[in-house]
Amino acid sequence: MANLKISRRNFIGSIAASAAVLPLSSYSWAHPSKIALASEKKIDWGYPEGAIRLNANENPYGPSLSTIKAMEKGLAEGHRYTRATQLTKELASYHGISTDMILAGCGSTEFLRIAPWAFLRDGGELVTTLQTFKTLPREAKKIGAKVNEIPLDKNFYFDLQSLKKALTPKTKMVYLVNPNNPTGTRHDFEAIRNFCASLPKSIIVFIDEAYSHFLEDKQGRDGLTLIKKGYNVLVSRTFSKVYGLAGMRLGYAIADPSIIKELRAFGFRNLGINQAVFAGGLASLEDEKHVQKYKKLVNEGLEYFYHQFDSMGLKYIPSTTPFLMVKVNMASKVAIKKLASKNVFVRKGEDWQMPSYLRITMGFPEENKACISALKKVLNL
Ligand SMILES: Cc1ncc(COP(=O)(O)O)c(C=O)c1O
Repeated sequence: MANLKISRRNFIGSIAASAAVLPLSSYSWAHPSKIALASEKKIDWGYPEGAIRLNANENPYGPSLSTIKAMEKGLAEGHRYTRATQLTKELASYHGISTDMILAGCGSTEFLRIAPWAFLRDGGELVTTLQTFKTLPREAKKIGAKVNEIPLDKNFYFDLQSLKKALTPKTKMVYLVNPNNPTGTRHDFEAIRNFCASLPKSIIVFIDEAYSHFLEDKQGRDGLTLIKKGYNVLVSRTFSKVYGLAGMRLGYAIADPSIIKELRAFGFRNLGINQAVFAGGLASLEDEKHVQKYKKLVNEGLEYFYHQFDSMGLKYIPSTTPFLMVKVNMASKVAIKKLASKNVFVRKGEDWQMPSYLRITMGFPEENKACISALKKVLNL
């Protein structure tokens, strides 16, 4: 049995360890032994020791230091329910829109899940692409909505003509992920604008912009611009990617106030946002340096993988995102198991009807290198 007697030396040591995470000054009320014991509890994060996790499009840097410090302040307010009005205000001013056009929530997943409830529950149909992020179409199916999934074209871009042909009088929503997950392809802005302009006003185009930060230009060639120009567009964004807050859960929706009002009726209304991420989100918005550092890592990672795949003779889909797809010479569901046995985790293309592709997230250079080395062994290259 573990010796629970805490000597002064051990106690100070354990305080030092926990101080890396918790600002003890904020917890002066807490009994010291509680802090010491809490820091000793081993946490299983769900992966083997040393795992190379390139399977979930996470940012390996994690949150910036200033965001972590802000979140510590939020932890000390953990006993209070969140009133995230400041976040809505700052996001609105960040994007140059009014506060009634923004709704923050528990990751952008909150909006992918509630949008079908808000707009498809009375027999409305959804049109989307086949090889894309599945949360929204899955949720739509769960509530009994008809979902028409149109394959991407041969270059992995939206087939806008076929998407248009799939519309019926019952279609209430079109869901597009741009840049797209899993393919990493970014569709041309003008083509999307023309597509939106050609639709009846009764159809909402939901553009999932989880990877909007990776759009190269700053000329507003995104869904937000379409909203500002009056198109019937709903955009979701997230703090999970460039801000490194995937595990903290913060995202938001942007749309005309009438759409936001409908969404609000089905959402968590601030209760899905915890105090720590509320404070961290505010800090992240000011942390452009951290964003740039991550984008550099991503671009260098993509270049590295392109180069490696070229020399291995593997085909890949050039990407505008922190992940890319590569075609391999075996079923990807087999390949991911073999890679996992080498402690390298990537996603199988089967999940998007692309059975010979792997989706790989950009990690640190040494992680990318380890992934290539494991892949060479698995594929006998
Ligand atoms: C396209 C897309 N949308 C939404 C999400 C979910 O993001 P969040 O963490 O904000 O719920 C992801 C996560 O990988 C994604 O790739």
